[in-house]
Amino acid sequence: MPKEILMQAKVLIVEDDRGLGEMLQEEISDAGLQARRVDTAEAAITLLGSWMPDLIVSDLRLPGADGLELMRRVQTEFPENMPDILIITAFGSVAKAVESLKAGAEDFLTKPINLEHFMLTTNRILEKRMLRNEIKQMKGLLDGGDTFHGMYGRSRAMLTLFQQIRQVAKADGPVLILGESGTGKELVARAIHCESKGRHKPFLAVNCAGIPEHLLESEFFGHEAGAFTGAGKPRQGLFAEAEDGTLLLDEISEMPLPLQAKLLRALQDGKVRPVGSNREQQVNVRVLAATHRDIEQLVKDNDFREDLFYRLETFPLRVPPLRERDEDIDLLAGIFLAKQAFAAGKPIRGLSERAQEMLRNYPFPGNVRELYNAIERAVVFCRNKEIRPEHLPARIQKHTAQNTEGTGRQLMNAIRINEDSLPSLEQVEQHYIRYVVDKMNGNKRRAASVLGIARRTLYRRLGEPENADAV
Ligand SMILES: Nc1ncnc2c1ncn2[C@@H]1O[C@H](COP(=O)(O)OP(=O)(O)OP(=O)(O)O)[C@@H](O)[C@H]1O
Ligand SMILES: [Mg+2]
Repeated sequence: MPKEILMQAKVLIVEDDRGLGEMLQEEISDAGLQARRVDTAEAAITLLGSWMPDLIVSDLRLPGADGLELMRRVQTEFPENMPDILIITAFGSVAKAVESLKAGAEDFLTKPINLEHFMLTTNRILEKRMLRNEIKQMKGLLDGGDTFHGMYGRSRAMLTLFQQIRQVAKADGPVLILGESGTGKELVARAIHCESKGRHKPFLAVNCAGIPEHLLESEFFGHEAGAFTGAGKPRQGLFAEAEDGTLLLDEISEMPLPLQAKLLRALQDGKVRPVGSNREQQVNVRVLAATHRDIEQLVKDNDFREDLFYRLETFPLRVPPLRERDEDIDLLAGIFLAKQAFAAGKPIRGLSERAQEMLRNYPFPGNVRELYNAIERAVVFCRNKEIRPEHLPARIQKHTAQNTEGTGRQLMNAIRINEDSLPSLEQVEQHYIRYVVDKMNGNKRRAASVLGIARRTLYRRLGEPENADAV
């Protein structure tokens, strides 16, 4: 266990033998831990009200209440965040020490105390405790209520999406899942399946771009024995295998046009025909289709059947790009970090303010997948308690560097600052407002949000009527 974590640990020594108590306290302080000492169980209980240690090292025999009694009182009075207990006992009272183990002590040591052994035991107990705490923390994070079938999100956009998923899951029709690469379309598909009545039936996913064109039809609808070269035994297609369940057609845009026609028929009549067969089969499958491409454009270019598009488009779901949901960047970065730091056994507590800022400002063309990879890399390179900018991938660091540098320069150009004619504050403001509107591609809502002013104020400053556009 890393030193810095153990160093924050607090140890309370309860020992009436002053010489021994002070020696143990010194040993613990020397190891860099915080240590305090009292000589009765009663004094210990009083101290716990204001100073809660991670470990209590207690003599079994004390004047007044003994070590066992102290342990019971700690258990009943401080059940939350209860410290671990290490019992010290005189040689000969081992039976009682064993009793203390049964009552919940972590370990016991017999006098005379070997200091090296004492420190080893102390460290082992504290390490175990830290690990337990980390697991608890991580579980808290993972069960924090921001998850929906393994998908994390707390942005308004994602909460809306979760709601839409619940709604479409109740219906039977096909669903078209749209969104940039890495936004989580596959997770959305799984969530729909988990919310629908076929949740106990199979969920199958097929990547339409990953199967050779001549095999696709048989993959989907199955084939008869010897239907084509290489088709030995008959085979059920995915539609039949997913019966009563869900079939995800990933990268639907890559499906060849002739097959699109057959898919449409399957969607409309629930009928499929295995290759080489003249009998149609009735199937009952929930079909989900996903693509990261602009499918409407493909329809315009005649690369995707319009009728199939309309059939799929009854229930469209859009998974928003990560850059449009800052809250999720923070949340996901935290979760990925907790999971990966834990897996790597590294005591990384979080992201530094600047690293977090960098992530928020980065446009994430690869969306959640890219964020995941960025954190994975950062954990590998991080040797501190927190992820800092230098641990992030170069392109994320570069983006921030270019942007801050670029912003300054462009602003200067826009305002045309030179020594002879320095602009007034009012002029600078005016230029900056226009600069931000420009940067946001004319989106006034986002510009106002970046500027931190009301949209109404923005329109006034631009000298435009409020309903000038409906962004
Ligand atoms: N909201 C989320 N919470 C947790 N993990 C997520 C979330 N969104 C995406 N991921 C993770 O990001 C990765 C990419 O997600 P997924 O494969 O679903 O993206 P996709 O939209 O299907 O991408 P592509 O278009 O490239 O196929 C996966 O590892 C997924 O688990
Ligand atoms: Mg995918």
